[in-house]
Amino acid sequence: MRALVTGCAGFVGSHLTEQLVTRGDAVIGVDSFTDYYEPAQKRANLEPIEGHPRFDLVEADLMEVDVGRILDGVDVVFHLAAQPGVRSSWGRDFAMYVRQNLSLTQRLLEAVVDAPGLQRFVYASSSSVYGEPDGHPTAESQPTIPRSPYGVTKLAAEHLCNVYAENWAVPTVSLRYFTVYGSRQRPDMAIHRLVEAAVTGTPFTIYGDGSQIRDFTHVSDVVRANLAAVEADAPPGLVANVAGGSSVSLWRLVELIQAATGRDIPLVRGPEQPGDVRRTGGATDVAARELSWTPRTGLDEGLEEQCAWHIARAEGSLPTPKAGA
Ligand code: NAD
Ligand code: UGA
Repeated sequence: MRALVTGCAGFVGSHLTEQLVTRGDAVIGVDSFTDYYEPAQKRANLEPIEGHPRFDLVEADLMEVDVGRILDGVDVVFHLAAQPGVRSSWGRDFAMYVRQNLSLTQRLLEAVVDAPGLQRFVYASSSSVYGEPDGHPTAESQPTIPRSPYGVTKLAAEHLCNVYAENWAVPTVSLRYFTVYGSRQRPDMAIHRLVEAAVTGTPFTIYGDGSQIRDFTHVSDVVRANLAAVEADAPPGLVANVAGGSSVSLWRLVELIQAATGRDIPLVRGPEQPGDVRRTGGATDVAARELSWTPRTGLDEGLEEQCAWHIARAEGSLPTPKAGA
């Protein structure tokens, strides 16, 4: 197939793009290399497939390019481009979240309405749409009451996908990723910072009391869920959790990473962050039933993979990532 991957140079997008290209698909990848974190990391993410005959990189802002032209001949859209990050979505920056997460999704959906033969539009949604749900693991049928402006934009864009599926039969699938980790993870995220702290001996700041719980999902499982969303005969407008199945507090995570790296992590305490939720945990019955997807990578194995990436990066000898293996 010919796939369009938006946000192809980012953490998750680069793994997905690499997997598609490796298995024989043609990919047109679009990324504007925003400076939310080092664009150099994003360029390094694409190094393994740079110059590959089945990979075309379009370095452009999707709010400005002619999307219709990019969609020419595309069978499947994987829409991952976004302004991520829960805790930085307050204040003046919110305008950027609305632009990158909501307006951009609307722009793409409007363009795919006119794209003949589009088989699937896979949207990267987020566990942040749930806020603080009553029950765990949380099912897709539970109320969505985000607690952060970021979550509001991710949920609004998910609603847009549903609206275009209902009215224009756009074959959308929204995948609600739960805290993704693995090699190339964004540098604002906890596991990235913890492993860097272990490797370099610099302190890690624990926000709040450290008892917050996350359902971590390895990036290789997220890649598989995206591929499953294309292969499955799922109804347009499907929404499915993509959750790894762990239920781990931040304190426990510190212990696991100290054990995985064999190094102590210097810790300092910081204030609880507005918008941060106490706990996430996703039920994956819908993904199992509709997409034949279940997570495969346990937290121990996944942390080992991510730690190896940080250590190799520090030594200047990055291995080929195992995502999707
Ligand atoms: P990332 O920041 O690494 O990747 C996003 C990419 O989109 C970046 O490379 C950025 O340059 C690009 N981009 C942003 N605006 C653009 C624009 N206007 N035009 C072109 N490119 C643009 O983030 P990530 O962690 O890989 O997240 C990927 C997707 O998954 C996002 O939609 C995010 O909301 C969603 N998500 C991520 C997680 C997670 O834990 N990482 C969890 C839930 C959902
Ligand atoms: C992550 C991603 O960053 C979001 O883009 C995504 O949408 C979200 O998952 C999701 O699942 O939908 P988050 O769960 O907050 O958000 O993941 P981390 O950034 O790794 O933070 C995990 C926990 O560690 C949070 O409670 C956070 O406050 C804490 N943390 C993070 C710290 O204590 N210190 C830090 O330096 C960073």
